[in-house]
Amino acid sequence: MFSIQNKETENDNTLLIGLFKEEAEQKVSTDVDSSRKETLDMYIKSGDISNRYKTLSKVLSPPPNKRKYFIGLGEKKELTKHSFRKALGHAFQSIAKEGHEEITIDFASFTSHLSIEELGEIIGEALYTSTYHLPSFKTKRQEPKMIRHLHVISEGKEEPLLKALEKGYALAQGVNTARHLVHLPANILTPSELAEFAKTLAEDHEFEIEILEKADMEKLGMGALLAVNQGSVEPPKMIVMKYQGLENWEDVTAFVGKGITYDTGGYSIKPKTGMPGMKGDMGGAAAVLGAMDTIGLLKPKKNILAVIPSTDNMIAGDAFKPDDVISSMSGKTIEVLNTDAEGRLALADGVTYAKSQKAGRIFDVATLTGGVVTALGSWMTGAMTNHQELFNDLQQISEDMGEPIWQLPYNEDYKAQVRKSDIADLNNSPTRKAHVIMGGAFVGAFVEETPWVHLDIAGTSISESPHDLGPKGPTGVMSKTLAGYVLS
Ligand code: BES
Ligand code: ZN
Ligand code: ZN
Repeated sequence: MFSIQNKETENDNTLLIGLFKEEAEQKVSTDVDSSRKETLDMYIKSGDISNRYKTLSKVLSPPPNKRKYFIGLGEKKELTKHSFRKALGHAFQSIAKEGHEEITIDFASFTSHLSIEELGEIIGEALYTSTYHLPSFKTKRQEPKMIRHLHVISEGKEEPLLKALEKGYALAQGVNTARHLVHLPANILTPSELAEFAKTLAEDHEFEIEILEKADMEKLGMGALLAVNQGSVEPPKMIVMKYQGLENWEDVTAFVGKGITYDTGGYSIKPKTGMPGMKGDMGGAAAVLGAMDTIGLLKPKKNILAVIPSTDNMIAGDAFKPDDVISSMSGKTIEVLNTDAEGRLALADGVTYAKSQKAGRIFDVATLTGGVVTALGSWMTGAMTNHQELFNDLQQISEDMGEPIWQLPYNEDYKAQVRKSDIADLNNSPTRKAHVIMGGAFVGAFVEETPWVHLDIAGTSISESPHDLGPKGPTGVMSKTLAGYVLS
């Protein structure tokens, strides 16, 4: 996977070198072209190598140095973690596409204000996220092209560098786990299959896991999740996973992920154009499982609780209907005004269950509303909080991870809307007005005083086109940010 060496050897026939705009400061520990004694400067002047941001140049020379790739990194002083990540992703993708399975990078060429730990982590992460291939059911499928081994030329600092690369790999692994799950169609990834996947993951990492079955939910009074499941032939599952990195079960961080394996909208049915893609309505669950995968690989000294309420949202003679009044695990009653606002119902019982397991802070992640897509598009995840400090911490991490979040208001006016009902304590769909906030506010009514950040990823969990860090389709968004919070 990764190895570190202090100098270039004759086996290094595919080299990747970073190039900043400030040529004078450029550190490159390999010759550009040993056969012709050309300097990097001459190549840049002749235009054969570009130092423009994210431009990849290739120089061929006779063996032993067969090819050298130069990736433009822009102005050194403007380098950010995410600009570095994207440039590398672009380079790795192009090199993988050309069929090279082993590459060598010149670590000194990345020397900048980012630390060895930061650079190493991003390199490891970008390598495995950018070249990831989604599962496919095509009968004639080409073997995907992958970079299987990364050699790093670095003098000294081997141990922290290797550790950083492996941390990056663990983060990428989480992202790819999430992407994989989101891509699977709902006839294959049923709630039961999602639970099986979680069990395997738990076994691999020696997590404690419990799957709450329908009968358990009935006993616990999880009427909100059960209502969503009512019209389904697939049994609901509540996945509960615990990773205990501290001596005692205290100071628990809980991740609650929306695990709707398919959302037809129920009797408040979606239009036929709104339904394709709803296999991805378990993107929150996927992000949580991805983060748990990363956590399992890195085993930090923290306590983590993952809760995933899972069902599909179907139509049948016994499905729930608008006007139904249901009772949640918290005891709060809910007037159902829209069966398509099902995610918040599932999350309500998920959050209440997390609190019963001593959650000290809660992050919920969900493909919750079309409203967030209208508001923020696919560029930022919508967020709400009852605890500014917790939000600020998470925001910094999300920024560094290249998964930015944007805070939406959550005040008494909004909170009042979800309490409007002539017949029950709450309603699940007040108005179309600010409905992205209504989704969060509904979940917040169950969170109550526990420090909490709500993450609505309906706009960010799918990418409409291929990008520097992955293919078109599931992004695995928030897996890195959740894991990053725990690792910070
Ligand atoms: N799963 C959808 C939200 C969604 C929309 C996810 C687009 C991904 C892409 C959610 O359950 C839903 O249907 N929300 C409704 C809420 C409304 C009925 C209050 C919506 O956003 O329209
Ligand atoms: Zn819905
Ligand atoms: Zn949904």
